[in-house]
Amino acid sequence: MAYSEKVMDHFANPRNVGEIPDADGIGEVGNSRCGDIMKMYLKIDGDTITDAKFKTFGCGAAIATSSMATELVKGKSIDNALKLTNKAVMEALDGLPPVKVHCSVLAEEAIKAALSDYYERKGIDPKVIIGAPSTSEDEREEPTCGE
Ligand code: FES
Repeated sequence: MAYSEKVMDHFANPRNVGEIPDADGIGEVGNSRCGDIMKMYLKIDGDTITDAKFKTFGCGAAIATSSMATELVKGKSIDNALKLTNKAVMEALDGLPPVKVHCSVLAEEAIKAALSDYYERKGIDPKVIIGAPSTSEDEREEPTCGE
């Protein structure tokens, strides 16, 4: 399966690359099989995510899914961002090859990790609010990880 135009666009022209120095939540996740790392920064005002940026050391699909995930949560409420699944990120990119599904999983996990950090900073146990990932173990640990 070839990459969609949207994947290629978000890979070649990623949105929201960088750091937010005074971020309210920072999440870093990685995939132990491929070694890719994704770091998300969120700025939150009240209940709204006012800004989102990312730094990803990873494959093209990881960059495209990070870029799309930041676009999907910017301007949204925390509740809506918590509902963001890797499948929604993939759909917004018009799909990914099966071997690249785990890259989108990192994007979901990175947003949730940043929101966990946000709640921890406020002294709230994030496990109560964030819950389990939307993905299965298989989706998170894709056995092959070709570029
Ligand atoms: S995140 Fe592992 S190859 Fe894309």
